[in-house]
Amino acid sequence: MTVALIVAAGSGERLGAGGPKALVRLAGRSMLQWSIDALEAVAEIERIVVALPAGVLAPPGVIGVEGGAVRSDSVRRALAQAGAGELVLVHDAARPMLTPELARAVIAALRSDGDAAAAIAAVPVTDTVKRVDTSGTVRETLKRSELWAVQTPQVFRREALERALAVPAHQLAQATDDALLIEREGGRVIVVAASDENLKVTTPLDLKLAELLLSTRARGSSAPLPLKPD
Ligand code: C5P
Repeated sequence: MTVALIVAAGSGERLGAGGPKALVRLAGRSMLQWSIDALEAVAEIERIVVALPAGVLAPPGVIGVEGGAVRSDSVRRALAQAGAGELVLVHDAARPMLTPELARAVIAALRSDGDAAAAIAAVPVTDTVKRVDTSGTVRETLKRSELWAVQTPQVFRREALERALAVPAHQLAQATDDALLIEREGGRVIVVAASDENLKVTTPLDLKLAELLLSTRARGSSAPLPLKPD
């Protein structure tokens, strides 16, 4: 069985919505509710725990916990309330375009690879990516064919995630995703091809795009984009 953790405790300052990002309304529901609805449609997810900003009540049907100072601390706090479950799915509330199909695909990928500690949704990078120093000078051009932009959901074997999260606070603070903590301790992480549509809402432009896509989806007038490009 799988337990799902949604981290929704960020302040969302870059969005400038004047309140917690996860509570921003999108096509008739809160951003957080879109992810909850997608995960509730996945039969093997037994329980959903949401890390929330202090003072925010959990929506019906999920367990709420107060988030931590940094993202991975919110994951750790949610995991502590998750109860039994051999696999743990972690998802950012900032990705409201999540589909049940993607969540199932990432869970299935981990189940079918006994050597992997984690499976993560990701898309091949289409931009050329350069490493740039603080003076603005390009230092390196990375090999694009090897680069993937990582998303959530990320699914972990529970013991691997618990071990990975049991590190000092400064290491947790550096982790922009949880898979990084697994990689650091030598665990194998595999990618599952996802869609660009599973975008992360960070800026006002992302919010407009998500609103457009979710209202189209809510009207049922378009089929979801395929997980893998043709
Ligand atoms: O800050 P960032 O955009 O990486 O946040 C990704 C996700 O982590 C968001 O859904 C946000 O709500 C969550 N988060 C959290 N606790 C924090 C910081 C971020 O739950 N302290």
